Amino acid sequence: MRDGKYMNVFPIFDKMLSREDKEQLLRQRGIMIWMTGLSGSGKSTVAIGVERELHRRGVLCRILDGDNIRAGINSNLGFSAEDRRENIRRIAEIGKLFVDTGIVTIACFVSPTEELRQMARKIIGEKDFREVYVSTPLSECERRDVKGLYARARRGEVKDFTGISAPFEAPEHPDLCLDTSQMTLEEEVRAVVALIAGSAS
Ligand code: ADX
Repeated sequence: MRDGKYMNVFPIFDKMLSREDKEQLLRQRGIMIWMTGLSGSGKSTVAIGVERELHRRGVLCRILDGDNIRAGINSNLGFSAEDRRENIRRIAEIGKLFVDTGIVTIACFVSPTEELRQMARKIIGEKDFREVYVSTPLSECERRDVKGLYARARRGEVKDFTGISAPFEAPEHPDLCLDTSQMTLEEEVRAVVALIAGSAS
């Protein structure tokens, strides 16, 4: 863009080594595994299992999740629809940098609406984006209540809480669906690793 506030910005990507150079160096292909699901559904647990298995196989992987992003670069954002949108937009832009470096990137965010996930898909690019729906039912997430947030949301102490007082739209055509109340962690990890391996060529 050569107008407005971008007038004096000259990206120098043409001088940098390419994504292909990085992928050859790493001997792997960059991909974004976008995990969506309710709070407490098991997104991060599955991601950590996948990261360990990939590491064991010599594949470089990076997890982006609420703890490392909302505590840092997105610490100024809350949970209004507008803030969630900016949260996901920044995560997708950051994720794209990792993917363009040839890294298998796993994003673990509630990303509760089709619109948000479509935005992430568009930023990252269709061919590099795989959607994994961690479909663990609300009743199970609430039973686990690892962070005590469901109880607080029921008492009205946390507003706009996804699944209780804010919407969650299930993805319509995810590449993979994992209900962590029905599958073992080992099965879940195997399924995600297979999805990644199938995207490598
Ligand atoms: S997203 O909707 O913008 O994608 P994100 O994944 O970053 O959400 O953060 C969700 C995490 O923040 C939840 O796992 C939960 O621990 C915490 N959280 C705090 N308040 C809320 C809220 N109102 N709705 C959902 N999650 C919340």
